[in-house]
Parts: sequence; C-alpha cells; structure tokens
Amino acid sequence: MCGIIGYVGTRDVVPVLIGGLKKLEYRGYDSAGIAVVNGNGVDVVRAEGKLSNLESKLHEKTLHGTFGMGHTRWATHGKPNENNAHPHRDCTGNVVVIHNGIIENFLALKQRLKSQGHEFKSETDTEVVAHLIEEHRKGGVPFVDAVKKTLKELEGHYALVMIAADEPGTIVAAKHGPPLVVGLGEGENIIASDVAPLLAYTRNIIYLEDGEYVVADDKKVELFGESDQKIEREPRRITWDAVTAEKEGYRHYMLKEIHEQPRAVRDTFNGRMFEESGEVFFNDLHLDADEWAKFKRVHVVACGTSWHAGLVGKFMIENAARIPVEVDYGSEYRYRDPIIDESTLVIGVTQSGETADTIAGMQEAKSKGAKLITICNVLGAAATRMSDGVIYTNAGPEIGVASTKAFTTQLTAFYLLSLYIRMLRGEDKDDLRYAMHEMSVIPHKIEHLLKTQEKHIEQLAHKYHRAQDFLFLGRGVHYPIALEGALKLKEISYIHAEGYPAGEMKHGPIALIDENMPVVAIATHTPVYDKIASNLQEAKARDGKLIVICDEGDDEMKKMADDYIEVPWSIEPLQPILTVVPTQLLAYYIALRRGCDVDQPRNLAKSVTVE
Ligand code: AGP
Repeated sequence: MCGIIGYVGTRDVVPVLIGGLKKLEYRGYDSAGIAVVNGNGVDVVRAEGKLSNLESKLHEKTLHGTFGMGHTRWATHGKPNENNAHPHRDCTGNVVVIHNGIIENFLALKQRLKSQGHEFKSETDTEVVAHLIEEHRKGGVPFVDAVKKTLKELEGHYALVMIAADEPGTIVAAKHGPPLVVGLGEGENIIASDVAPLLAYTRNIIYLEDGEYVVADDKKVELFGESDQKIEREPRRITWDAVTAEKEGYRHYMLKEIHEQPRAVRDTFNGRMFEESGEVFFNDLHLDADEWAKFKRVHVVACGTSWHAGLVGKFMIENAARIPVEVDYGSEYRYRDPIIDESTLVIGVTQSGETADTIAGMQEAKSKGAKLITICNVLGAAATRMSDGVIYTNAGPEIGVASTKAFTTQLTAFYLLSLYIRMLRGEDKDDLRYAMHEMSVIPHKIEHLLKTQEKHIEQLAHKYHRAQDFLFLGRGVHYPIALEGALKLKEISYIHAEGYPAGEMKHGPIALIDENMPVVAIATHTPVYDKIASNLQEAKARDGKLIVICDEGDDEMKKMADDYIEVPWSIEPLQPILTVVPTQLLAYYIALRRGCDVDQPRNLAKSVTVE
C-alpha cells in the first residue's frame, strides 16, 4: 500500500517528509519521491527502490522549503521505476499530486485529456489527476475550486494530496477508500496515510471519512463533505506510542491485519474486475484464450496457509475450466517426479514470494517446460521474477507471522482467475456479472462479520482457551478452512489442533472426541450441508463440544451447537473468505488469553527461506 505525507508550516520540510515516509515503510513500497515548494516553483526528487536511494539523491540536490509532500509507491498501474514514482505533475509543472488507491476511470480521462493537448510522462493512473486539475484551472479558476471539480470526476478508490506551486501554502487532501488523517499542529499542519508520521508533531488528529476533503494551510484546516458542505469535527487526542501507531491502535499486527481484510480484498479485485462489461483484466498475467486452450492440467504448489488457499482454488478453477487441478506441498512436489509438460500450468502461491520449498517446486515445473504463474503479495519477490505471469494480491505487507489477509486475498486472486478463465472460455456475460457482484459485496460482509461477531468470539476464546486439543471439521470448500483454522490455532496458541474432512471423522478421529474436545465445524449452506449436519450429530453423541460456524439465522444448526458463530450468506466459492475469519479471531483471542506472543510465535519465521 502506498504511503502519503503532506506538510505545511514553518519547519524545514525535507526532514519532516523523509522522517514521515520512514514511519510508513512498513506499508511496503518499490519507489519513493518528494516535492518541495520553494521561492521559485517546486522541486521534485524521486528514486526507484528503498528510501535510502531517495536520500542519496537528496544529498546531491539539497532542497529547502517549508511546504511539500512525500510518497512511497506500491505499484498498481505501471512498473516500479523512477518515472512512475510519485509525485506526479501537470504540463505546467505547478500542480503536484500523490495518491494511494486506484482511479478506475483513468483511461477514459487520460484519452480526453490527451485530446485536449495534455502530454503524459508516466504509465500511472495518478498523473491523470494532475492534468485534470490543470484543465479545470484554465480561465484563472483558483486551485482549490479546480480540485473540487476534479474530485467530482474521479471514480475508484483514492487518498490524494495535491498542491499548486503557483498558489503556495495550501494543501488539498481527499479520501475515498484508503485512509487519510490530518494532524493539527501549532502553526503547522500535516496530512498522512496513518497516524504514525504525525505523532512527532501533534497528537490532535482528524480522521477523514470517504467523500471528504480538507483544505489546509499553516494556520487552519477546513473539512468539507462530498457536496462541498463545511464539516465541523472535533480532533481525536491520540495517546498511542509510535510502535502502537504503526499498528493503528491495534494490540497486535495480526489483529490489525484481520481487520484490514475488507480493504485488502477490495484492493485485490479493484481495477481488475469490471461488472458493467463482465470482464476481468490482469496487468501482469500474460495469459490469453489461445494459450489457455493448450492446458490439460493445472498444478498448484505452495506451503502452509498458501497451500490451504490452493485447495480452495482447486474448486474454483476445476469448476471454471473442467481440467484437473492438483495441489502439492512445495516440499513434496519435486520429489514425486510430477508429470509436467508444456500443457501444464503451474501456479506458485506464496505471500512472501521467498519460500524456499515453493520456489524449488516452481523451478522443477519450469525445468520441465510448464507455464509458470504466481500469486504473490510482495512486488518483485523471487517467485515473481521466475514466473511467466503474476497475480499480485495487494494485501499490503503482512507483518504478523500468522497469515490472515494474505490468505483471503489469495482466495480472491483464485476467484478472479476462475472468472478470467470463464471469460476466456466465452461464458455468458450475465453469469459473470452475477459472480462479480457477489465478489464486490464480500468486503462489506467481512466488515459486518467483524462488527457483529468479534466480541462474541473473544468470549468463546475465554471459554475454551484451556483446551489441550481441538478438532476442526469441514466439507467441500470448507475442508481447507478446517485445515487453516487448525493451523492458525496451533501456530499462535501452541494448542494441538487438527483439521479434518467431516466425513472422514468416523474413520478414526472420532475416537478422540469427548467432553474435553472442542470441535469447531464449518456448516454453512453448501450441497453437503445435510451431510455435515449428520457428522456433527455423531460428534455430539460423543459429548464433543460443538462450536459451529453457520449461516446467519440457521436456527436448526444453532440448536445443535454448544456455541455458534453466524456468518453472512454468500455463494459457495466465496464462503471460505467469510468462514475463515471466525477461525482467525478464535485463534487470536485464545492465544492472547494464553499469554502467547501472537505476532512472533515461538519457532516460526514469517518467510521460511530454507528448505
Ligand atoms: C501461515 O500462517 C504461516 N505463516 C505459514 O504456514 C506460511 O503460510 C507458509 O510458510 C508459506 O509462506 P508463503 O505464503 O510466504 O510462501
């Protein structure tokens, strides 16, 4: 996710901007830049790679000023290079813009602006905003009014900070999706993607809501709504220390990342899935209909949570493509002499893109002539560099060792890939539009689930946190969620937990069940709902303690359960994105209750780069 900072006041702005960007590094980025307004215009310095590269350039070209902006870029449109790094400017060089998010209608705007004579220097969607402001300034329209007109034309998700060198001292910032906060100082004001960069200067913070924008100078900050109406909002007094600020007030990165899932899922499908036309586009996949028709089989290679994502992806791709999908552990794949040739598509799934076992499996596939693509969360990671195509999950950096938002965005990526395959195979556009609509409402459903169930799940965690063993049961698309729920619990709470296909329980694991064994079961409405209901009766008959994850309002299932967690309805392929969330929260709160190190569990590393 990009990092944004804007400052107007009396301090030397370069250290403020660089220091602020360093506080935003955890969001992940591939290039950076700053703009400083001085007496005779604006200086912009940008660099590919880490902030240290930008700092080296600033040693060569010293900038001075008290008004400017800075940005760390997480590439979505356009390669991660200096030319695409922010800030971006208009033709005059006076209007300067930085941006987090995706301007979904940028292509149409860009074509219109080009026809009006604007010349573009980058591949980014962001640059369109600078030229649009320039267009609206024609005829002497004041900068702030030109920005207001521009905002009304933008579609998509954006956090924007904008200035004009020829109207210095005024910053305009707008929020429509990604976060934006304003720090109110004494004779200075500072705007950023989150609180961390502000705390060195002020603890009085205003959080912008979607559709709002601010006009700030060194004396005042004015807040406006979507219809340009003035809004009075009391600032919040932030008491966090700097480290807590990077967790945005959450006690652990894992909890923050669980709560980021609505945004992360949205950022993964945004700009790729277009309901109106019923089309799916991938920037970096490089897979067309002719090439797809050549494939006779798909192999998925992954480890841990990513392997569980592959098991869910198998359902999605086999349903879309009607060719076999095999899902292998990276550590096993290359030792089974897999049957691979140019008619095999191999998908490496890896959050870090550096997992040695997964990469080794991918190398095996490559050496045997497979087409290789990867689903990855880290731009430019090793797995992406060896692949013929990439689907980035845009979850933003995942700091907690236990993977959460990476998993749900991997499921989103698989779902998008299955829609893409259905499109390549000429499926009816109305069916595709319906499938896309169900994806588009998933972020709201996750938000609803978090809002209505988190407190209840925390209470369940306190009730069951002393258990020595857990059994997780699921069928069909929810068997991988049983595995994932068990992995989450064991890796952060150190409780022994097993995931099993519910139908398999009577072939052995049922011997384990007694009154001391909590049984977490996913039992939402799928074609095997009645089957799992019988399996749960079997567990109940052995005094197992049933914790059931079921559809909202499923009174039958709630009656059978000792405890239940209700999730919103969705179509079967998308249910796992919802049903995994209660297992993440249950694991988190049990581990918390047991005093475990949630973000850094013993013996574990975030990325296992050794075989
Ligand atoms: C999951 O919570 C663990 N952190 C672990 O199983 C992880 O999923 C696995 O090591 C694979 O990592 P990757 O996705 O970065 O390849």
